[in-house]
Amino acid sequence: MKRNKITVVGSGNVGATTGLFAALKELGDVVLVDIVQGVPQGKALDIAETGPVAGFDAHVVGSNSYEATEESDIVIITAGLPRKPGMSRDDLVKINAGIVKSVTEQIIKYSPDCIIIVVSNPLDAMVYTCQKVSGFPKERIIGMAGVLDSTRFRAFVAEALEVSVESVQGFVLGGHGDTMVPMTRYATVGGVPLPELMDAKTINAIVERTKNGGGEFLPLLNTSAWVAPAASIIDMVESIVKDKKKVLPCAAQLDGEYGVSGLFIGVLAKLGKRGMEGVIEVKLDPAEKALFEKTVAHVEELKGKVDEILF
Ligand code: NAI
Ligand code: 2OP
Repeated sequence: MKRNKITVVGSGNVGATTGLFAALKELGDVVLVDIVQGVPQGKALDIAETGPVAGFDAHVVGSNSYEATEESDIVIITAGLPRKPGMSRDDLVKINAGIVKSVTEQIIKYSPDCIIIVVSNPLDAMVYTCQKVSGFPKERIIGMAGVLDSTRFRAFVAEALEVSVESVQGFVLGGHGDTMVPMTRYATVGGVPLPELMDAKTINAIVERTKNGGGEFLPLLNTSAWVAPAASIIDMVESIVKDKKKVLPCAAQLDGEYGVSGLFIGVLAKLGKRGMEGVIEVKLDPAEKALFEKTVAHVEELKGKVDEILF
C-alpha cells in the first residue's frame, strides 16, 4: 500500500514536533523542509532513528529544496517567525506574509493536488495568503488554531473540575487571537452542559485564560508553545488521512455561513479525505453573535493588511 506523503515546511519547534508525531502515529512518510542548511536534515535523521525504539515505520527525510516534497498528499506550513515577549500574533504579519507567499509558490509547483494546513501566525491572515497565492479550492486549504485553543480550554476545565480531560468537550470559534470566542454554552463534561457544573465567574476566568493561552508561554519560554500545537495539527492530519470525518474547529473559508463570504475564520468543520468537507454552522445567541461579529471584523482588518503588503 502506498503511504501518505506528509511535508512539513519550517523545521523549527512546531514543524519538527509535528514530523515526530506524524511518524509516531504512522500517518505517512515525512519530509521536513527549512531554509536553514542542515536543520531539516538533522531533525529528520533524529526522528528516523527513533523508529526502531519507538516502534514506527516511516521514512523521514529533511531537505532545503522542494524537489523532495514532490507529490505530497498533505503539506503543513509552519515556516515563519514566532512571537517574542511583548509581541502580538498580528505583529508577525509583515514578515510572515512574505514567507508564506514564497513557501506556497514552491509547494504548489511540486504538489498541485495536495491539501495544505497553514499554521504560521497570524493564522487567519496566513491561511488567506496561502489561498490567494495558490488559488486552491476551500476544501484543500485549512488553518490550524481552533483545535489548539479548544484543547487549552478543555484542559483548564478538566483541571478546575478535577475530571479526565477525555470527559470534557468544547470548542472555540473565531480568529486565533484576543477576539477568539470560546463557546462555553456548548461545552460539556460527561455530556452535561458546562454551565450546569461551573459558576459563571469560574467559566469567565477559564475563557480569559484560554484567550491568553498562547501568550502564557512567552515569559516562560521566550517563544511560543509547540507540543500542543503539533498535536493539534496531527489531530487534523489524522482525520484527513484516515478519512475519519472528525468535526474540528479550524480556519475554513466561509461561503455564506454565519452571513460571511470569502473570509477564513475559525469554525467547526468536517475533515476527511477531501480535506475540509463542510462547515457545521452552530446557532449563536445574541451575545455570541456580537462576539463573532467582532472577531470577523478583526480578521477582515488583518486580511486588509496582507492585501496592502502583498497584493
Ligand atoms: P520556530 O522559529 O521554531 O520555527 C520556524 C522555522 O521556520 C525556522 O526553523 C525557520 O528557519 C523556518 N523558516 C523561516 N522562513 C522560512 C522559509 N522561507 N522557508 C522555510 N522555512 C522557513 O517557530 P515555531 O515555534 O515552530 O512557530 C512557527 C510558526 O507557527 C510561527 O509563526 C508561530 O507563531 C506559529 N504558531 C502557530 C500556532 C497556531 O495555533 N496556529 C501555534 C504555534 C505556533
Ligand atoms: C499559540 O497560540 C503561538 O499561536 C500560537 O500558542
